[in-house]
This record gives sequence, structure tokens and C-alpha cells, in this order.
Amino acid sequence: MTSHDLQSVALTLVATGKGILAAYETIPTLTRRFDALGIQSTEHSRRTYREMLFTSAGAGEFISGVIMQDETIRQKSSDGTPLAQVLSNQGILPGIKIDTGAKPLAGSPDETVTEGLDGLRDRLREYHGMGARFAKWRAVIHITDALPSVACLSANAHALARYAALCQEQHLVPIVEPEVLMDRSHTIERCEEVTGIVLHAVFRALVEQGVGLEGMLLKPNMVIAGKECPYQVPIRDVGPATLRCLRRHVPVAVPGIVFLSGGQSALLATAHLNAVNRLPDSKPWKVSFSYGRALQAPALEAWHGGDENLAAGQHAFYQRARANGAASVGQYTDEMEAASPGADDPPHRRDWRDD
Ligand code: 13P
Repeated sequence: MTSHDLQSVALTLVATGKGILAAYETIPTLTRRFDALGIQSTEHSRRTYREMLFTSAGAGEFISGVIMQDETIRQKSSDGTPLAQVLSNQGILPGIKIDTGAKPLAGSPDETVTEGLDGLRDRLREYHGMGARFAKWRAVIHITDALPSVACLSANAHALARYAALCQEQHLVPIVEPEVLMDRSHTIERCEEVTGIVLHAVFRALVEQGVGLEGMLLKPNMVIAGKECPYQVPIRDVGPATLRCLRRHVPVAVPGIVFLSGGQSALLATAHLNAVNRLPDSKPWKVSFSYGRALQAPALEAWHGGDENLAAGQHAFYQRARANGAASVGQYTDEMEAASPGADDPPHRRDWRDD
């Protein structure tokens, strides 16, 4: 696969009106989400849930790719088709979460560094053989007045760049995800400052490691106030702050930016994406979504583990995919939510944490 092929996969992932479903929760994380709804977590129930999402009729209109994790990419659907093939049959590209998680950073106990470089070349080769065409690696950055530390920034940026270079070598498009967490009480101004510093460090490391920017995607947080910040900024202010930060720090060679939802409610994640895309300022990259919680939460609740609810779960997922597809081109409207079940933010969901 040439750099041209990598670029064409990256462009396919951000095709107009489409974005990515992040469905790579580890077994413990998905089990916690199932537990909250009284759903038993077994290999079978996890597979049923993922199969429900992947076979939603029409999802391929708005979903270009799905990020899976190891258990899922090895599973087969109820009719024996590998789940990666189920996605391909829908015109959706299979992807894989490849990092092995954020671990405490030596010397800075309140921060983490994401691990998973050992043996990465072989793992990428194996997943490519199973059909994966892209991968993702998430670095986690905590904000306080003093954090992130220089050590945290450089360790995570270096690991992201090493991962991305190995992906391209093994013919997978890397999704580079430096997530500045929205926990805590920081202001939107502090989020903008830290997000800018993080992006600067990440792109510097990517260039140092020879990563082809045309053959990757960036998956950043939006620029928003921390969850505990007493002043929650209105939607109309999130768009400009986010776009300003991205325009300052993301090279135009990058084909697409796909936001994570990071614990925002499903509705807010859609509204913020729409707000960015409605701004008149030029956007040299596609700006879309790679949501986990914001795409899945209503579907998981509608399904609730019951075979009799599979159609309701698929309907809820389709609604979120459609709304976010519209937001990715700035055409999302409130009316689109009329038939959208469970897109608000019930209390039990506010503690959902990502891996
Ligand atoms: P959320 O949209 O739930 O943040 O998940 C996307 C993701 O990949 C975060 O790592």
C-alpha cells in the first residue's frame, strides 16, 4: 500500500456527511455499562450488542468506519460471518484500538502515559490480515493549573508518533488521539491553551518520526470548559474556540479531524460538531466525529439486553448516526431530534468513563 492508498483510506473515513463509530470499549468497561442497566456481560451478549450496531440498516450512510477492540474483531456474527466482514458488507471500514491503555507516568503519579509499542508491528500485521484498515491510539492528558507536565507531553507525543509511523509502515491509517480530559473545573480558556500546547507537541513528534500527515487523521477533544467548571460556555462560543485552536495547530496536509465526545451528552456532542461546521472560517480539513458514548448510549439503553428490543436499539443508533452525519456538514437541526429516543443525559450516564 502506497502513501496514496493511505490517503485514500483516510479520505474515505471522512467522506462528506460521514464519521466514525468508536465501539472499542474493553471488556471491563463495557461490563460496567451493561451492569448499570442490569444487562449480563458475557461474550455472547457483548457480541449481540456489537452485531446490533454493525447491522443497523442504513448506518453505512453516515458511518464510514468502526473502531473495534481485540475481542470484537475476532468474533463472528450469529450467522458465522466475521464481524469485520459484516462491516465491510455494509461499506464500513473496520478499525482497531491498538494501544494497551494509559498507565501511571513514572515520576508524575497524577498523569499517565499510554503503552503498547512493544510488539506493535506484529499486532498491526495480524489485525491488517483480519481486515482492519485503520487503527487508533489514545493519549490521555489531565488538566490542572500545573499539569500537563513537560514529561507527560513529550512521552505521550513520542508514543503517538511511534505508533503512527508503525501503522503507516503496516498499511493502516493511524488515528492520532491526544485527549485533553474534560473532567475537573478548568475554564474553556485553559482548555484552549492546553489543547494548543498538546497539538503542537504531537505534530512536532509526528514530523520527527516521518509520519505522512496526508495518511492520518487527528482525533482531538473539543475546546470546552471542564465538567465541574461553574461557567459552562454556550454552544455558540465552543465552535469558535475549538476552530481557532485547530487552525493554529493542525497542518493543512491532515485530511480530517474527527472529534471524540469525551463524556458530553449525545445532544451536546452533536450540537458542538454542528457549531464548528457552521462557522464561516475556512477549514482546510474535513471536521467530523469519532464518537463512542455519544453514538452508543441511546442505543444501549433502548436495547437493554433484550432480543425483543434489537430493532429499537438499531433505530436509536441510526438516529444518532444521522444527526451526527448532518452535523458533520453543518446541517443538523433540532427537528432531527423529534424522533430521537434517549439522546439527553440521564444521571447514570454522567459517570461513564472511557478506557
Ligand atoms: P467518546 O466519544 O466516548 O469519548 O469515545 C471516543 C473515543 O475513542 C475516546 O477515546
